[in-house]
Amino acid sequence: AYPALPDFKHCVDATQPDNIDKTGIGINCCPPPVDRSRIKDFVPCVTTVNTRKPAYLFDVSSDYYKKYTSAIQKMKNLSPSDPRNFRQQANIHCANCDGGYYLVGSPELYDVHYSWLFFPWHRWYLYFFEKICQNLIDDDTFTLPFWNWDAPEGMQIPSIYNSGLTSPLYDCFRNSEHLPPTVIDLEWFYGKKPEDPKIQIENNLSTMYRQMITQSKTPTDFFGKAYRAGDDPPTIGDAGQIELTPHNDVHVWTGISEPPNAIDLGALYSSARDPMFYAHHSNVDRLWTIWVNKLGGSNFTDPDWLFTKFIFYNEEAKPVRVSIKDGLDITKLGYKYEDVPIPWLDDSA
Ligand code: C2O
Repeated sequence: AYPALPDFKHCVDATQPDNIDKTGIGINCCPPPVDRSRIKDFVPCVTTVNTRKPAYLFDVSSDYYKKYTSAIQKMKNLSPSDPRNFRQQANIHCANCDGGYYLVGSPELYDVHYSWLFFPWHRWYLYFFEKICQNLIDDDTFTLPFWNWDAPEGMQIPSIYNSGLTSPLYDCFRNSEHLPPTVIDLEWFYGKKPEDPKIQIENNLSTMYRQMITQSKTPTDFFGKAYRAGDDPPTIGDAGQIELTPHNDVHVWTGISEPPNAIDLGALYSSARDPMFYAHHSNVDRLWTIWVNKLGGSNFTDPDWLFTKFIFYNEEAKPVRVSIKDGLDITKLGYKYEDVPIPWLDDSA
């Protein structure tokens, strides 16, 4: 077999609602086309390692908030023909997740969800998003925050994302019943009734323990099933434990998820239009590092996974090709996560 690769020459309409057999409404979310002859292979060359911090540490009067909002505002102000433009960055997610490309060598559509592509694709996606932020504010120490929803301090929408309609970090398509101080439900589904906040926090901690430890014994449990060239598109039953819960639940809890009008964080195709998406995924990425570094989990060693390649745009708006194997050690990508307490792990003894 061969690694899965999308056909970047031809981007087609994605579909909403999210269905890979394309019976929904067509949505054009193709990012600016890529000239295949200009795609360069990329391996990061790192001199300093920056620390991604939990979003709850910052408020609107912090210097960090100023930097972060200035980066996102600049991204929003770029021309729509620039792939670094905020909406085009969201389109990259849409096209890779909702059938914007065909799988090379296959009549099937490509999808980075519900399989072993999920963790590494999103890691690289955030990597370039962060680089673009750094470049726009001319500060190569800038990092994205992580939304630490697995610890009580982080179990609500972080205040920096909820600081008024004019903030570049605000998004109007969020569930109005879930604004702060509502405690997040890591196993939420549309229509589920709220729980007492204290009980909810306990429930969330047991969800984390179960998904990270009890249910994630093997790489396939944790990451999701293999997905290679020529395979049928992955379905939800092929997804890894963390992708299913809490990752999906955080999406639908935060965004508008009422069918059939789900939008922004509540629907795959539009998720990355909410700046909070990147903090949510930063935490998902952090859980990968915890699973490997603290829980003894191991990455796949299958070459079809290691040599899977993705294409993104770098901070100079140039197309680059990266492989999973070069993204396994985040310090080689120039970042790490602040070592915050992990109550679902440390207090569980
Ligand atoms: Cu690409 Cu949280 O999904």
